[in-house]
This record gives sequence, structure tokens and C-alpha cells, in this order.
Amino acid sequence: MSNLKEQIKKRRTFAIISHPDAGKTTLTEKLLLYGGAINLAGTVKGKKNTRHAVSDWMEIEKQRGISVTSSVLQFKYDGYCINILDTPGHQDFSEDTYRTLMAADSAVMVIDAAKGVEAQTRKLFKVCTLRHIPIITFINKMDREAQSPFDLLEDIENVLGINTCPMNWPIGSGKEFKGVYDRKSRKILSYIPNNGQQEVETVELSLDDPDLDSKLFYGQKDALFDDIDLLDGAGNAFDIDLVRKGQLTPVFFGSALNNFGVEPFLQEFLELTTGPLPREAGGELIAPDSDFFSAFVFKIQANMNKAHRDRVAFMRICSGRFDKNMDVYHVQGDRKMKISQPQQIMAQEREIVEEAFAGDIIGVFDPGIFSIGDTIVSPGQKFAFKGIPTFAPEHFALVRQKDTMKRKQFVKGMNQIAQEGAIQIFHEPESGMEEVIVGVVGVLQFDVLKYRLENEYNVEIIMESTPYQFIRWIVSDSDYKTLDLASDTKVVADFKENKLLLFRSEWSIDWALEHNKDLRLQEFGNAE
Ligand code: G4P
Repeated sequence: MSNLKEQIKKRRTFAIISHPDAGKTTLTEKLLLYGGAINLAGTVKGKKNTRHAVSDWMEIEKQRGISVTSSVLQFKYDGYCINILDTPGHQDFSEDTYRTLMAADSAVMVIDAAKGVEAQTRKLFKVCTLRHIPIITFINKMDREAQSPFDLLEDIENVLGINTCPMNWPIGSGKEFKGVYDRKSRKILSYIPNNGQQEVETVELSLDDPDLDSKLFYGQKDALFDDIDLLDGAGNAFDIDLVRKGQLTPVFFGSALNNFGVEPFLQEFLELTTGPLPREAGGELIAPDSDFFSAFVFKIQANMNKAHRDRVAFMRICSGRFDKNMDVYHVQGDRKMKISQPQQIMAQEREIVEEAFAGDIIGVFDPGIFSIGDTIVSPGQKFAFKGIPTFAPEHFALVRQKDTMKRKQFVKGMNQIAQEGAIQIFHEPESGMEEVIVGVVGVLQFDVLKYRLENEYNVEIIMESTPYQFIRWIVSDSDYKTLDLASDTKVVADFKENKLLLFRSEWSIDWALEHNKDLRLQEFGNAE
């Protein structure tokens, strides 16, 4: 039992959120290097075709040379067992990216120091705040010309609405980058570039080093002392409780590419975050170190290997310990079962898991019985975890089948793919699936849908784009038939017959709210 507690306490499960190109992959690679999990930086995620040798996942993935699925990477560091949940970022951005955040206990937000907060970070951040998890910020690329650190903090506070507390402070940027001042130890970690070599040398300097002036560029010492006074006097005080509630983000400056500031960041991160958090089930909190096993499915990946037509359900273990041979109970399916071929996905290579603990993620072969949000527990337990919300799609298309004789396959395929959570489907209220509007979070899902309908259901489809850009669930009791709406707003229903509104612009959303005083709209569909 004490072993169980020990194992769980030392686990950290987090996701990295960022806008494409901010440096998420580079930071992940450096973190993995500390754990010795990979030998060579640059093999984590195959963004280029040449790096795709290890993956036999969907054909589409190979054709495009990008990763469609989010993987989980585990490594050990200083007695900790760390799980990084990868959130797909480029064109492969999808609802899975959001769902992955439901499985994390904290998030690392990577921001490009020259660009500040960007669109995709904002979206991912919103989902993190739904769960009030700690968010730790890494401001990257300080070796390039950067915005002023004060402006960057202000940007985070204004755009994202979270208070910031810098843990270190940069001295210059770009060609004049001299390192960071660590506020806790009151020491300077100096940055000594070495002609493009990726591992820079770092030396610790003390603030009262008599030669400090000569080691920095002209004026940097005075500016640093002024900044420190300002931060100590007027900055947000560090408060671990606020960090843990997701109301204050500790901020670190560094350069992932040069591996500068990454290890101190990792060490602090482990201190700032806790082990796996309790999860809510039926109004009760399930403690991670409970003596029973429990997990929930947060993602289903179909056809990871076409030859075997397999589906993998990704589960986040919430309590207890998982053993390869144990019996479990699938709550939603109301049946006892053995988990077959439990796997851990390491940099897209799969290996069978013998045992795993609360905080870990396992991939489980799924013969088609699991749905997103399902709970799996030790026999004898019967609770279900709070489900995963449905996130508002951002792209919409009208879809119909080319050959009207194939109606049955079309409806079956569309429903199954929607059930897996790869797409969302909507229809006119009180009508069948004559005209289906497909909504996706990332446009690549349209290609995935077309590809899968053709390959798995033998149905060709015609897809027409629509002018809609926003969708909102109606959460008030309003009767959709009597709503006063702008002419370009459309009422639709999801498969549970919840009513939603489709809008062409944010202006139309405001219009609807102004003209219907009791109308309440929500950006995500409530979890069951
Ligand atoms: P992402 O996963 O968030 O999309 O970003 P990624 O790590 O792939 O980094 C995007 C680009 O930024 C890469 O360059 C990477 O080398 C660079 N980069 C990451 N961290 C730093 C940093 O601290 N300083 C500087 N100067 N650059 C950084 P690329 O040329 O687009 O890709 P590649 O050819 O190097 O793979």
C-alpha cells in the first residue's frame, strides 16, 4: 500500500499548450533528454516525411507527413515519473487536442517571446480554465529579439485573464541575451552562446559580484536592479495556493533550442505541481491513492493500424493500480472484462504495459465497446466519472452521399465516426439525416471523415462548405421556434436533440443575445 502511495505521489501528468512554432516540440525533446527517454533530440514527433518510419498509423498521416493523433510520452527524472500529453498543434488540431487537456493535471504554456499570446494558445487556455488546473508558463526563444518582459506579462494578464508571477527575469534578449536572474536563489544564470551549438554553457553569477557590470552589456546591470525592485515592490506575490487553483501562473524565461533554463524549469515545475488530482464521480471525489482501480476514456483512435482494423481507447488512470491481468468492470457497458493488450505509447512506439498507476495513460485495444468519457473500475465499484464536455466546432460543412443507394452505409458511418468523437453532426430540428451539417474543431477532420467513409464504409461523399463560423448550445429553456434571430442564423440539433445556434459572425451572436433577453448560450456541450 505504501508503495502505491509512493508511486502515485511521484507522478506528474501534464499537457503542453502553445501556438504552432512557439517551441512545444523542442521543449518536449529537451525534457525527454533529461529523462534519458530518447537518445536523439528530433525524433519525438515526425513533422517531416523522413521522420515517419516508426509510425504505421493512418495512411493520411503518412501522406501529409504530420501526426494526426496525440501521443503520450513518459519519462523518469529524479525519482519522478512524468507523463507528457502531446496536444496536436498544426492543421491536425482537433477536438482530441481539447479532450487531452481533460486527462492532464496541469499544463505548461509555451509562448514565443517575440509574439506573445497567440490564437491557439488562447483557445487551449480557455479549456484549461474550465478545469482550474495549474498553468505554468515558459516564455521561449529569449535568444532572439523579444518583446519587453513586462509587455509579455501584461499580454498574458490582459488576453488570458490570469495573474502572472515571474520566477526568473531575463537580462536582454537576442544578441544581447545574457541569461536570467532567478528570483528565489537571487542568482544569475548566465547564458554564454557557443556559435550555434545547441547546448549552451551556463554559469551562476551572484548579484553582488564586483565584476557583474563587465560581464553584462552596458546598462543591463542598472536595468536589472530597477526591474527587480519593481517586481519585488509591485508584482504579484507568489502564492502556491493560487497557482494550484489556476489563478496565478508562474512564468519562466528561457530558450528551449539552446537548452537554456529548461532543467531549472523542470525542477521548479515538479515542486509547483502536485501528484495526480482527485476526480469527481457522482458528486464524490475519488482519491488517486484509493485501493481500487478506476480510469476514464478520453480519446479513441480508430485504425491505428489498417491491417488490423484496430481501435485504441486511451484511458487516464484516476485511482489505484493497473495490472495487466486484472479483471475490470466497464460501467457504461455494465459488464466485467479483461483489458486486452494494454499499451503505453512511447514516441509512437507501443509497448505492452505490465502495471501502471493513477496519473498514467494507457492505450487499450477496443473492439468497439468504449465511448469517450466511459468509466472503467475494479469489480465491485460502480461509479462513473463526470464525462467530457463537447467542444464547439469551428468549421462546418454540408455533407451528403454521392450514391443515394448507399444511404444505410452513409448513416451508419457518419453515426459511428461521430460517436467516436472525431466529428460532430447536426441536423435541422425534427428532421432526419437528409442534410447533415458536420462540425469539426480542426479542418483536417474533414479529410479524415472522407477518407474513412470511403475506406471503411465504401461510401463516397460530397462536401460543401458553409458560411458558418460559430456554434453555441442553447442552455436556457427558450423555445427555439420563437427566438428572434438574424436572417443568417440557423437553428440545428445534435444527436441528443439538444438545440444549437449556428452563426456566421460574432456580431450575430451578440444580436441574438440582445434580442432574446432570456437566451443563454454556451460554448461547450455539457458532459453527461
Ligand atoms: P512547435 O512544436 O511549437 O510547433 O515548435 P517547434 O518546437 O517545432 O519549434 C518551431 C521552430 O522554432 C523550430 O525551428 C525550432 O528550432 C525553433 N525554436 C524552438 N525553440 C527555440 C529557441 O529557444 N530559440 C530559437 N531561436 N528557436 C527556437 P524551425 O526552423 O521551424 O524547425 P526545424 O527545422 O529546426 O525543425
